[in-house]
Amino acid sequence: MNLQIFVLRLEESPTRRQLAALLMAADGEAAEKYHGSSGTHAAFMSLAGHVLSRIAAARVIGVPAREVRFERDARGKPYISGRGDVFFNVSHSKDVCVCAVCGREIGVDVEYVRDDLPVRVAGRFFDPGEQRRLDECPKQEKARTFFTIWTQKESRVKLTGEGIAGLKKSVGGEVDTESFDLFERYVVSVSVFGNNPSAPAGHLPLQGRQ
Ligand SMILES: CC(C)(COP(=O)(O)OP(=O)(O)OC[C@H]1O[C@@H](n2cnc3c(N)ncnc32)[C@H](O)[C@@H]1OP(=O)(O)O)[C@@H](O)C(=O)NCCC(=O)NCCS
Repeated sequence: MNLQIFVLRLEESPTRRQLAALLMAADGEAAEKYHGSSGTHAAFMSLAGHVLSRIAAARVIGVPAREVRFERDARGKPYISGRGDVFFNVSHSKDVCVCAVCGREIGVDVEYVRDDLPVRVAGRFFDPGEQRRLDECPKQEKARTFFTIWTQKESRVKLTGEGIAGLKKSVGGEVDTESFDLFERYVVSVSVFGNNPSAPAGHLPLQGRQ
């Protein structure tokens, strides 16, 4: 199965009607999570990302969206119940959600390219090669380079489900990572396992998967 990317951009605050429609399209857990939040933009984007994932998975599998069920593995990474052959990952930043669906385990990250760079983050998480790449790029490309490196790292830890703990590791090795720009101010990176014989397509040594 080829990699498929689904994108949702929300340029305005949702109307009550749109919110109600999203809540109806979400599963119980996601709807409850939204109701338990204080209705922040981040909570809304999380809900939108969930619904986008549901629609994307349904389209790829070829079933109605309401039949798609999600579970989470031991690290909190969501997966499609009962489908060991279709994998997805979702990310949201500012007004954009990106969902990647693939026949093998996948990680995706989208970030809005802000001009006020969280440079302390670079010092903490970037390895010497990444720091050099940032230092050596032209000033006008600094922000985009920073967030490209950042999304590459995040997509990798989201591939493995490791979370923040994996961010100090370098991107490379047996993981293939691709990056692209989106809507001028966003950057997206997607990671899948490469030619690693110990990681056959579609399988990760994670607990809790079916
Ligand atoms: C997972 C993580 C990298 C997400 O980064 P982020 O840039 O804040 O958020 P993104 O928008 O890119 O992605 C969020 C989505 O990724 C998915 N996700 C959650 N946990 C995940 C994981 N461990 N691996 C991959 N994807 C994950 C969810 O769909 C989540 O959506 P939601 O927040 O609306 O539920 C970050 O939250 C993290 O590291 N969390 C800690 C995970 C961890 O270490 N858990 C250990 C528990 S013992």
